[in-house]
Amino acid sequence: MPADDFRVTPWEVEGTVDYDRLIQQFGVEPLTDSVLATLRKHAGGDLHHLLRRGHFVSHRELPWVLSEYKRGNRFFLYTGRGPSGPIHLGHLIPWLVTRWLQEKFGVDVFFQLTDDEKFLFSEGMTIEETAKWTVENGLDFLALGFKPGKTHLIWDTRHAGVMYPQAIRVAKKLTFSTAKAVFGFEPSANVGQIFYTSMQSVPAFLPSVMAGKPLPCLVPMGIDQDPHFRIARDILPKLGYPKPAALHSKLLPGLTSPGTTKMSASDPNSAIYTDESPKKVRAKVMKYAFSGGAVSTAEHRKHGGNPDVDASYRWLALFHEDDRYVGKVAADYRSGALLSGEMKQLFVDHINGFLERHRARKEELRPRFEDFLLKA
Ligand code: TYM
Repeated sequence: MPADDFRVTPWEVEGTVDYDRLIQQFGVEPLTDSVLATLRKHAGGDLHHLLRRGHFVSHRELPWVLSEYKRGNRFFLYTGRGPSGPIHLGHLIPWLVTRWLQEKFGVDVFFQLTDDEKFLFSEGMTIEETAKWTVENGLDFLALGFKPGKTHLIWDTRHAGVMYPQAIRVAKKLTFSTAKAVFGFEPSANVGQIFYTSMQSVPAFLPSVMAGKPLPCLVPMGIDQDPHFRIARDILPKLGYPKPAALHSKLLPGLTSPGTTKMSASDPNSAIYTDESPKKVRAKVMKYAFSGGAVSTAEHRKHGGNPDVDASYRWLALFHEDDRYVGKVAADYRSGALLSGEMKQLFVDHINGFLERHRARKEELRPRFEDFLLKA
């Protein structure tokens, strides 16, 4: 792979992602200012800071979903998680915007926990292990503040009775050659992997099946998941359901990197997990966070640093809503008034506060986990 090249699939991201090129490769629409302005208008004049600051790059038919909503045809939201380990900050990006959309539009959210996917795709993963992570990861999602009664968890193997009859309707319309072309499967792929995308498309129309009428669906996700929805958009109309619309976030770069490489599950130092202690988070950031500071304190005071490549700044900006505060931190870093170690400290304090509140909410919700499972 040439140094400037990259590859994005739902299961691996390699190289430095060029989003303009990826948007072309995937055939999705760039999220322009005018689409964002339409979203802001429909959301009552407000836009989530992750949308305002350009962390979402593209979409499929977002304006259509909004115009249907305006006509009284409410959409539902659908997103998900492959439960194979702890949640890192990158996973929270699409979920935070999903929660904001639920709040602004008062709509139902369906969250798919694909224990089947992780069993099929992860060497050595057992069904028992995926069950543990299904509960933990589901609680991480709910802890962001999703509304009880309007938020429905789908646990693939537990909901097999509802999921399977719909998944085979999709599978019957999907050829092996399409799955191979979209996902790049080798002949050594197991047959469960080839079938799996049928399961991921089901929540995009299951609410329509349950309601007995076609409902618009909007899927917020990291852009790596889009290939599944390219297939779903092709097949669902053949079954009498609308194409799911999509909203794509960029992939949050790792802590150790200045650029756009995705946080790697195989390098635990490149990510911060929601179950890590304040001490561990601090140690990780101090030791591994890529710094945009100058080589020495004297140089930094004189010439300033570069917040754009500074991992602590970038992550602080993702998790801090206040534009004025974030703007001032960037300006102080550029001028040299704020040092690299101080920037790290600001981020550590902010994220540790967020994570402690997050974990407290998880524990409050734990006894009620089963209440959130889809009733079907
Ligand atoms: P999974 O578990 O790999 O990831 C869950 C969600 O997190 C996003 N994501 C990221 N977003 C920003 N920066 C990152 N570094 C980052 N890493 C992961 C993913 O894009 C995803 O949105 N097959 C899916 C589960 C799934 C799903 C869905 C996802 C089932 N149905 C519908 C989105 C929409 C999976 O394994 O995601």
